[in-house]
Amino acid sequence: MNYIEEVRKLVAGKKAYVRTYGCQLNENDGEKIIAMLKAMGYLITDNAEEADFALLNTCAIRENAEKKTYGAIGVFKHYKELNPGLVVAMSGCMTGEEHVIESLRKTYRHVDVVFGANNIEAFPRLLFLHLTEARRVFDTEYDDSVPPANLPTARAFPFKSGVPVMYGCNNFCTYCIVPYVRGRERSRDEADIINEIKALRDDGCKEVMLLGQNVNSFGGGGDAFANLLKKVSDTGIERIRFMTSHPKDLSPAVLEVMAERENICKCLHLPVQSGNNRVLESMNRRYTREKYLSIVKLAREKMPGLSITTDIIVGFPGETNEEFVDTLSLLEEVRFDAIFSFIYSPRRGTPAEKMPDVLSVEEKKANFEKLLEVQNRISGEINETYLGKTVSVLCEGVSKTDAGNMSGRTEGGKIVNFPGSQDMIGKILEVKITETKTWNLQGEAVCR
Ligand code: SAH
Ligand code: SF4
Ligand code: F3S
Repeated sequence: MNYIEEVRKLVAGKKAYVRTYGCQLNENDGEKIIAMLKAMGYLITDNAEEADFALLNTCAIRENAEKKTYGAIGVFKHYKELNPGLVVAMSGCMTGEEHVIESLRKTYRHVDVVFGANNIEAFPRLLFLHLTEARRVFDTEYDDSVPPANLPTARAFPFKSGVPVMYGCNNFCTYCIVPYVRGRERSRDEADIINEIKALRDDGCKEVMLLGQNVNSFGGGGDAFANLLKKVSDTGIERIRFMTSHPKDLSPAVLEVMAERENICKCLHLPVQSGNNRVLESMNRRYTREKYLSIVKLAREKMPGLSITTDIIVGFPGETNEEFVDTLSLLEEVRFDAIFSFIYSPRRGTPAEKMPDVLSVEEKKANFEKLLEVQNRISGEINETYLGKTVSVLCEGVSKTDAGNMSGRTEGGKIVNFPGSQDMIGKILEVKITETKTWNLQGEAVCR
């Protein structure tokens, strides 16, 4: 049965609301779900209150992410009281957790349809069953030996797009929920990826971000990702980014291709998590501080001016103040362009959940503040070096913080704000930097 057509007969012209939490991969899933909703005849709204269908595409990475979801589920209950015809659905990584499914079944009885991050293609069928049989439908089953489906995407932006290259993760870092909720690594077919990127290019898209929890293990690892990057570069699309690279798998061949190819952004997101070897081992990261530093050195030799960003976890169980100081000194040694830092959040069923803490919550918070202080200084100092320089910026829209400015990103991923107009959106412009701040740059477009 063509479920999309069948649902269309029931819902055409109704309104659907989708809220996605979490990483770019989940955003991409959200765009695929929106494409299905549109195909089913729904009009997409960003006002949940007027919706006939409301979906939470969830993230489970930290407790905060889950709290936000439970908050939204509560709000949807209220909307359903006002509009009993509202269909409430949930997808994404939280649906991969048993305890979440249990509380949805028992406590959150107004959630009608549940599907998983790994079986989004089942959504039209499940929605059809709910609409025709008036029952709650839960299905998060998937077969991880089957390659991921090639689903169409309703792009959130015409000028940039995420392109998944692999799904799942086999690494089992001891703090992380992803391998449990996203399953084992599965790569997409190389030809499918390239065809998708060619179609994006032909449609005027300027930038693609190749996505995966560990893109370096695309196609089983080795040089497969480096070879993929070459082929993506050959499509001639203007800007190519990728994330995330795992330091244990990032091969010199990838750095080589990055250095060689002009349309691959000189920008590397390389999560380090900690600067201390005992902590890294306890996290099961399978590299040392020294190995990490040697990759950074090699990358910078090949690409002077390369922008490097990272993820840091503060307060991993067992981390002492002395061990934390090693993370601070790593920041000084590497001088990252930016960091994404998180206070450790215990995840149910992961090995780290059972590891004893030595620091109190207050001590962890104090360390977190210290980390930000050090990084803010470094980011500010790096940004200062841009003063007076002219950089290429892909204009993404009106600045979120200053409606008088347009905003975009440099090849290195830095946010640049500049006076301009709506017709600049989606264009790559040359911008001269006139002022630098800790988190962004201010400039003036020099030519169109
Ligand atoms: N696959 C990527 C990142 C996945 S999640 C990688 O391997 O690096 C993004 C970031 O969230 C991680 O890099 C880590 O810094 C953070 N993170 C993951 N689990 C966490 C937890 N339980 N508590 C706090 N931060 C966590
Ligand atoms: Fe999580 Fe580690 Fe996999 Fe990244 S590599 S998704 S941090 S288990
Ligand atoms: Fe969150 Fe799942 Fe991504 S847990 S960070 S949405 S893979």
